[in-house]
Amino acid sequence: MTVFKTPEYIQNLFNTIAEKYDFMNNAMSFGLHKFVKKDCITFLDINPHDKVLDACTGTGDIAELIKKSQPLAEIIGADFSENMLDIARIKNKKIEFIFTDITNTNFPDNTFHFVTMGFGLRNISNPEKALTEVYRILKPGGKFLHLDFGRKNFVSKIFNILVPLVAKMFKGDSDSYSYLIKSKTVFPEPEELIKDFEKSGFNFVMRKDYLFGVISMQIMKK
Ligand SMILES: C[S@@+](CC[C@H](N)C(=O)[O-])C[C@H]1O[C@@H](n2cnc3c(N)ncnc32)[C@H](O)[C@@H]1O
Repeated sequence: MTVFKTPEYIQNLFNTIAEKYDFMNNAMSFGLHKFVKKDCITFLDINPHDKVLDACTGTGDIAELIKKSQPLAEIIGADFSENMLDIARIKNKKIEFIFTDITNTNFPDNTFHFVTMGFGLRNISNPEKALTEVYRILKPGGKFLHLDFGRKNFVSKIFNILVPLVAKMFKGDSDSYSYLIKSKTVFPEPEELIKDFEKSGFNFVMRKDYLFGVISMQIMKK
């Protein structure tokens, strides 16, 4: 199955659903996505003054959790949907949110101690280019935390059916949510993904699965 996703289509999709994004995320995951995101970042050991980029930050959840856990870190949230960024800026006044395409940023080589990316790679038109860019802007020894849907098991199949229904129920854009499900279906499972990360130069550090493997987090090192 192929999924139609030019950068313009993705940008437009997230600009369209931005206003309802947080509400829908909470409704569809029963609030569990926050618990997962909070747990993930505890594995990073971020020190005061470390530079952290939350790529594909959307409405800034992960950036916000990092700021709460390490208030002295220099955290930037980056995304290419202005409407998602607008919401992030309203929610988190202490964090810098910038408009950036993660496949082609202006950051110098070796800038960040950590790059995080939650539910982003699956939506990027050229994921290989994004991984090359993340690798380039990480400092040697820096870590990349990637979080997204994981195994395509029975539980994830139930989720695939429920999500467009919930979207319809709450008058979300069900076409957009159907796309999101399709993108999840063709996205590599964690084992394969880790191999892709290794092809981009990263070394494996750890993996943790959540909710019967439906969500998976991997940490890789430059
Ligand atoms: C599903 S949202 C995830 C938001 C947030 N990280 C979270 O966990 O809730 C995916 C985000 O990736 C962004 N995105 C997709 N392709 C991108 C790219 N090439 N550069 C920057 N952001 C991108 C979208 O605009 C969207 O805000």
